[in-house]
Amino acid sequence: MIKTVIFSGMAAVALTAPAAIPLAINTDDVTLMLNVDDDGMLRQSYFGKRMADESYGPLDRGVEAFTTHGYTDQFEPALHINHADYNSSSVLKYVDHKVEEVKPGVTVTTINLADPVYNDAVSLVYTAYAPENVIACHSVITNNSKKDIELEKYASSMLSFYAPEYYLTEFSGDWGKEARMSSQPLRFGKKVIDTKLGARANAYVSPFFILSLDEPATETSGDVVLGTLAWTGNFRFNFEVDNQGLLRVISGINPYFSAYRLKKGESFVTPDFVFTYSKEGIGQASRNFHDWARNHKVKDGNGDRMTLLNNWEVTGTDFNDEKLIAMMHDAKELGVDMFLLDDGWFGNKYPRDNDLQGLGDWDIMEKKLPNGFAPIIEEGKKLGVKFGLWIEPEMVNPKSELYEKHPDWAVTIPNRDIYTKRHQLVLDLSNPEVQDYVFSIVDKLMTDWPDIAYFKWDCNSELTNVYSHYLGKDQENLYVDYVRGLYNVLDRIRDKYPDLPMMMCASGGGRCDFQGLEYFTEFWTSDDTDPVERIFIQYGMGQFMPSKVLCAHVARWNDDVKIKFRTNVAMMGKLGYDYNIHHLDEKELAYSKQAVKNYEKLKPAILDGDLYRLVSPYEGTHAVNQFMSKDGKLGAVFTFDIYPRWGENYYNVKFQGLDPSARYDIYEIDRFDAGDFKYGDYTGEYLMEVGLPILTGNRLHSRVYEIRKQ
Ligand code: DGJ
Repeated sequence: MIKTVIFSGMAAVALTAPAAIPLAINTDDVTLMLNVDDDGMLRQSYFGKRMADESYGPLDRGVEAFTTHGYTDQFEPALHINHADYNSSSVLKYVDHKVEEVKPGVTVTTINLADPVYNDAVSLVYTAYAPENVIACHSVITNNSKKDIELEKYASSMLSFYAPEYYLTEFSGDWGKEARMSSQPLRFGKKVIDTKLGARANAYVSPFFILSLDEPATETSGDVVLGTLAWTGNFRFNFEVDNQGLLRVISGINPYFSAYRLKKGESFVTPDFVFTYSKEGIGQASRNFHDWARNHKVKDGNGDRMTLLNNWEVTGTDFNDEKLIAMMHDAKELGVDMFLLDDGWFGNKYPRDNDLQGLGDWDIMEKKLPNGFAPIIEEGKKLGVKFGLWIEPEMVNPKSELYEKHPDWAVTIPNRDIYTKRHQLVLDLSNPEVQDYVFSIVDKLMTDWPDIAYFKWDCNSELTNVYSHYLGKDQENLYVDYVRGLYNVLDRIRDKYPDLPMMMCASGGGRCDFQGLEYFTEFWTSDDTDPVERIFIQYGMGQFMPSKVLCAHVARWNDDVKIKFRTNVAMMGKLGYDYNIHHLDEKELAYSKQAVKNYEKLKPAILDGDLYRLVSPYEGTHAVNQFMSKDGKLGAVFTFDIYPRWGENYYNVKFQGLDPSARYDIYEIDRFDAGDFKYGDYTGEYLMEVGLPILTGNRLHSRVYEIRKQ
């Protein structure tokens, strides 16, 4: 049931000063306090812990909540509109606001502002998720003037902070090196985190930040804000400390080459900036995000996930139906739910035997698969193993029938040589005809092969040759309209195939945003499957993303690592295999089959529970993660000794999130060639205050402990 309360201050035109209006955006533990001052300006007067005294005492005027270019303010603005008469200033005054409880625990506050001269309307829409302590904010900008306007800057959100010190953690990366965390203090001036890649936009930086106030936060202490933009394209976070030490954080679509033309009467809806705040450090803030993602954002966020065997690291594009049927049997042998066929199954005029050609031609390659997918699917049915399929529908090789037919569907510059990345070009999703074509790829496959149980949707190139043959004079709309076109396609797929799980992939974790995850059940965290590197990559991604969406596969990278270590790393995410199981000896195979069973048993803790990062790999030579099921009865502790030094001291690891007065049995499980071993039983208090000596000096060594509440 929707409960709505509407407050009205003044009409959009004829603005007169209202009495100061307080507007509290509340979750269970957090308040963002806004108020309208006597001049009708919206101000932010508080952001932090929700206090018992809801009146917040005598609030000061605060600072402008959504600054505009060209009138009174001289710092980076949240909004910059170029009007048809060349006036580029805007002034936003409060009109009215509305509070709606859209479902239990979720409240949407819409604050309507307007420019009294031009009538441009800006609504700030705050969605507060009470139990998760997460707030999402976006703006809606409407052109109510008589002519087109150009949106030069159009942020989703602006937040201000006033603290003696600010520390920022960013998540930069590259192919195979996603989400590397690094921190720096913020002093006077600007720091920008952004991407301009267009497609596979997060390849060099994930759309996340951690902001500590006063002093660097730890896992369990400190005032900290985690923020992310839910947008599968270019984003920008602008941090600016002004002359008085005030920090403004402006978040939104990157305005780089994106001055968006808005026609008379049109509205522009910006994506959600999603943030949480914790006074108890980063660990709690991450758990807030994990809960919010599962409960409100990720496709089938509270559903189960399938384990799988993928052929990419095993066969590359060199396979035929015999090999694939054999891998179906391997999947059965391992005990996983699905076999996933990767790149290389399509193209006849230009067979996709390597990445030079064939992309765009989604007909099954007859020389490799003369009977289509039928023999593989049928074998899977007999064995009880599902069939999943790789596609890369947004892209085209110039050497393809599709490009021969529709060269103007690709993003290319008419009077320059084409520049390809991985020998491919990006299809112009701003063009509705291209959107129809991309939708039809999935639709036709599902019509012809309704037993396809899963798609891996890849995207291996950024936008190069930035020119749309469709957009004409509105070239600067391309970066935005590309993403909107993608969402249009994904909406149609979700509407028609609501239960179809899909993996988002972009040469690994080059796409890792929450709006994408509204359509995808999970994402391929990285092409780097070296378990040592994966500990770091999963640690970085896991600051925001729940384990459930982090695809983690047992594969061959890093020959020094034994099967148990690589399996244990993958068990901390959504487990899969990219492995030729015939390279495993008898004991290794027996271990792997047991590990899949252990994973199934631990799913309520790993996939749906709470994550406590007990030891960070960034601190040195070990990493320990504890997962606890929501009912507190089952837990799993994954312990990794990476490259420990002989001379170091091995301190006890203290557990978290337990009931101090309850007793817990601790078992070491998932042992390589031995059964479970009872380590001991302890009170929760002992485990949290004293901890257990579970670190060792053994190199590349891992152990899994099961926690069972008595
Ligand atoms: C990049 C992906 O990240 C890989 O897992 C694989 O699917 C290849 N593309 C196939 O081309």
